[in-house]
Amino acid sequence: MTSCNKLILIGFMASGKSAVAAALAPRLGFEMIQVDEQIVARSNLPSIPIIFAEKGEPYFRDLEAEVSSSLRDAHNLVISTGGGIITRPENMINLKDNGGIVVYLRTSFETVAERAGDLSSRPLFANKANALDLYKSRLPIYERYADIIVDTDGRSIDEVCSAILAQLR
Ligand code: S3P
Repeated sequence: MTSCNKLILIGFMASGKSAVAAALAPRLGFEMIQVDEQIVARSNLPSIPIIFAEKGEPYFRDLEAEVSSSLRDAHNLVISTGGGIITRPENMINLKDNGGIVVYLRTSFETVAERAGDLSSRPLFANKANALDLYKSRLPIYERYADIIVDTDGRSIDEVCSAILAQLR
């Protein structure tokens, strides 16, 4: 297997990053970490929607950058990122440092809109038209940062994990 210290899952909201990270980590003998959870823990606020509402998106992005930087030297980790991690290039530099491999979970907008479920938990998905604009603008950025691209439409979590492992070998 390619030498890999950290596997970084990127992709649009509701592309399955957290579920894939949780299923993949034990298959690699790695731990799993969610950037969003670390952000909430650092904020002293109860949730992401509340961080956005009370402190605004720039504050959220600053915490996201802090968490990314704290993971620079991490190893044996599968990292589930938030969909906007790619909006600051230094986040990707920090995450990729020390043997990080970036996996883009490529998912159609139709599928993420179906999977998004409770939209109140994702402030940037509250309006579907705005979310589509965001999706279109981010797609080429995810592709640019990806070392590995795995399509997730119509695939189970297990199938996505197997596709990632096959590409890592
Ligand atoms: C965001 C995605 C969310 C969360 C925040 C902002 C984004 O994470 O970090 O709401 O900018 O795309 P998920 O991708 O896990 O939904």
